[in-house]
This record gives sequence, structure tokens and C-alpha cells, in this order.
Amino acid sequence: MKKISQSLLKLVLLLNDGAIHDGDALGVSLGVSRAAVWKMIKKLREYGVVIHSTKAKGYQLAEPLSLLQEDKIVQELYHQPVRVVCFENVTSTNDYLKVHPAYDKRLFDVCLAEMQTAGRGRLGRHWVSPFGQNIYLSCRYYVEKDISELGGLSLVAGLSVVAALTTLGIRDVRVKWPNDVFYQGQKLAGILVEVRAETHMLSEVIIGIGMNVNMEVNAASQFTEIAQYVTSLAEMQGHYCDRNEIAVVLIKQLLSDVQLFTAEGWAAFTTRWDNVDYLNGKSISLLQGEKRLSGVARGVNENGYLLFQDQEGVSRLFSSGEVSIAKDG
Ligand code: BTN
Repeated sequence: MKKISQSLLKLVLLLNDGAIHDGDALGVSLGVSRAAVWKMIKKLREYGVVIHSTKAKGYQLAEPLSLLQEDKIVQELYHQPVRVVCFENVTSTNDYLKVHPAYDKRLFDVCLAEMQTAGRGRLGRHWVSPFGQNIYLSCRYYVEKDISELGGLSLVAGLSVVAALTTLGIRDVRVKWPNDVFYQGQKLAGILVEVRAETHMLSEVIIGIGMNVNMEVNAASQFTEIAQYVTSLAEMQGHYCDRNEIAVVLIKQLLSDVQLFTAEGWAAFTTRWDNVDYLNGKSISLLQGEKRLSGVARGVNENGYLLFQDQEGVSRLFSSGEVSIAKDG
């Protein structure tokens, strides 16, 4: 685990104009030696960043790259009760928050990383987390509620992602129960919510969000453990996207939604859910342990459980499970 160094940040800012940069000139601009520049280039390459180099001319980024800027994000969140930390690499942003106690439990702790070496998905899956391309964000907050009162919370996080994207001008994004974020049938973001009881009436909630931003989509499909189509914001919009702006909007939205959830519970979100429910009315197949059930999705109930009408027409409720769309759905 390592914080993003100022010189690495500046080096990438300089290289991101797409031009060829002489190593000596980069050293002068950064106030470091040519050898130090070379070391940083080597590190970026080890992280998977493609940098062309020619002896005579210098270094050139093969693709646009801009890193997370902690100070910029913190400045944008100046009036919010938020603490933000950005790492160059971390095992998992969720795990970082799990093992690092809160400095002040009234604050919304946020951890972002350029890459995760052990990114985790739902149901024990791996989450592909290449350097500098996507959002890997976890936030932690403490809520004065028993775990049993937190039904619906993991769905709220999906709604926050949709609302943040809407703020950024990106429409038609849907949530596939419980909290996969989809665009035109392809997965854009995934959410891992982990809740721990501190005491009877105090719960620690960690919400981890992985959003595909600039990653080449084929790269993701190569790694997915389940057959599912994947997309990214860059793919949807046809251009490179600034992760700093996305992170700020997402953090503000998450904070406001967890505050609303704390005050009013899931009831405050049902209309928002109905507007973006990807599964509603679709023929689905639900995997529960070893058992596979077929039926039609019928929205969610007052606790955020999936309403499901099985093939005999019987209505059933599910609090967990893996859903896939039936071929004719
Ligand atoms: C899923 O769809 O399976 C959930 C994926 C959640 C990935 C995010 S990335 C940030 C946070 N850290 C992790 O290790 N996982 C979550």
C-alpha cells in the first residue's frame, strides 16, 4: 500500500499531453535527476502503462493517462464531513478500510486506489483492477442501527452510482438487483457492501464500488469469471474520462444517500429503484446455492428483497442470490 507520490503525479501530468518528452527536461521540470525520472517510468511500466521511448527523443504515453489527485478531490469536498485517501496500489480498498480504524466515526471515510492487487467482487469473485484506468472506491460510515435494519442498503449504493452518472450527463443506466450497474445489457460497475455489527445499535458499513471507466473492455472480458458482457464509460461515451470528477460526484452522492437511508430507510428510495430496475418484468433465472429457479422478476419489496414469480405463478421473495436473464427474457 502506497500513497500516490507528487512527483509521479506531476510526471504523468506532463506526459499526458501525448508529446515526446526528453528525460532530462522532465527531470528539470520535476526537480529530480534523469535517473529518478527513469525509475518512475520503469514503475509505470511495471504497473502496465505503455510508454514508448526512443534514446534520442524521450518518453511518450501510448494512451492518455491521468492519475487520481487526492488534493483536488479533497478541495472539491471541502464542506463535507469526508476524509479521503488515494493510494497508488492497495490489496483492496474495502480491506484497507476494514483494517484501518476510523479516526472519527462521525466522518465518511473514503479510500480510492489506482490499482488493487486483490480486488474482491461479490460471491468471492476476483475484481479486475488494472492501474490508472478505473474507479476503485470504498467508503465507510457508522450508522446507529442494528444490522437487521439495513435491508435495502446495498441497493441504495447502486442507485447512488446511477444518480452520480446522471449528474455527469450519462443517462439510461440501470441497476440489476441487487446492485450491478448496467448500460444496455452490459455491466458498467459492481458493488460490494460489507456490514459489521460494532454493538447492538451501531453498525459499520463499507461500500466498495468498482466502475469501469477507461479500461479497454476486451481486457475485462478476458478476466471475468462469469460469462457477462462488460462496458466502460469511455466505451459508452467514445472518449477518455476524468476519474477525479467522477470520484467527487460519486462521493457526494453516496454521502447524501447514506444520510437519507439513515434517516428514512429504504422507503425513501423505492421510486428511484422502480425507475431504473433492470430486471422488472424480465424472465430470469435465480441461482441459490446449488438450486436454479426460473421465473419473472417483479420488482423489490419494502426491504429491498427481490420479488420473483416462479413458473407455477407463485410469488417468492429472495434476499440474496445470483440472477441471470433467461435467453428469451
Ligand atoms: C461485484 O460486482 O462483484 C462487486 C465488485 C466490487 C469491486 C469493488 S472495487 C472497490 C472495492 N474493493 C474491492 O476489493 N471490491 C470493491
